[in-house]
Amino acid sequence: MTAKRLDGKALAAQKRQILKKQVVERIEQGLPPPGLAVVLIGDNPASQVYVRHKRNACAEVGILSKAYDLPENTSQEALLALLDQLNEDAEIDGILVQLPLPAHIETELVIERIVPHKDVDGFHPYNVGRLTLHVPLLLPCTSKAVMTLLAQTGVNLMGLDAVVVGQSNIAGRPITLELLEANCTVTGCHKYTRDLADKVRHADIVVAAVGKPHLIAGDWIKPGAIVIDVGINRLDDGRLVGDVDFAAAQHASWITPVPGGVGPMTVVSLLENTLQAAQDDGLPR
Ligand code: GUN
Repeated sequence: MTAKRLDGKALAAQKRQILKKQVVERIEQGLPPPGLAVVLIGDNPASQVYVRHKRNACAEVGILSKAYDLPENTSQEALLALLDQLNEDAEIDGILVQLPLPAHIETELVIERIVPHKDVDGFHPYNVGRLTLHVPLLLPCTSKAVMTLLAQTGVNLMGLDAVVVGQSNIAGRPITLELLEANCTVTGCHKYTRDLADKVRHADIVVAAVGKPHLIAGDWIKPGAIVIDVGINRLDDGRLVGDVDFAAAQHASWITPVPGGVGPMTVVSLLENTLQAAQDDGLPR
């Protein structure tokens, strides 16, 4: 079997066109454009690249993005004061603080300072709790991207066995929750999981979100399984690869490439969340 590609780059471009129209419609109704504040602390090169993609995508669809690039030595108090100000800012519907933060800043304090209705990352305990309790509101961008790509296969997910490798707060854990929400039977694997190969071999859906190149061998994949690779790893020779050996494409029915799979869809999820935050009266305020 040779897997069909789940082309996240092309799907993201289509979704941005739809978002662009929705933003235009809003403006024609006399409403302001959705506004996103993107806060970047320090000069982590990977974070700079991700933030640039997010800002460019906002510009393309007509979302107002306000940049807050602060030095590495920014104090926790100064960051919290900025968030208090953005929470009150009527032009700002969504707030994103790029992670990871410098070691002197407590990530949880920062996430919890953002009011839940502007939490377009879906990381606030309120939004994570809503997802856990089957009443999702703002969803984390990576898991939303994974679910959109799975929907694109047209496969009915009900009752399928899913294995999620990696249980980070940003990716693996919300993906595990969303697959449960889609009525899959989910196994959450992590660094203490025994015999990972055996877990993967039995899965109809494999989602890899660890950040270790080729952690998952191609021949672990059950024939016909769907493979979603969230990992983005740069090798010494400069190539970008995922967590799954791409030989998996010989066994899977569908597979996401790296790059060009989950990554571009994650950015689109952020834009969708920002529009949702701007227009959704269902969000608690
Ligand atoms: N760092 C890596 N992924 C993400 C993300 O989705 N949101 C934020 N805020 N930081 C990240």
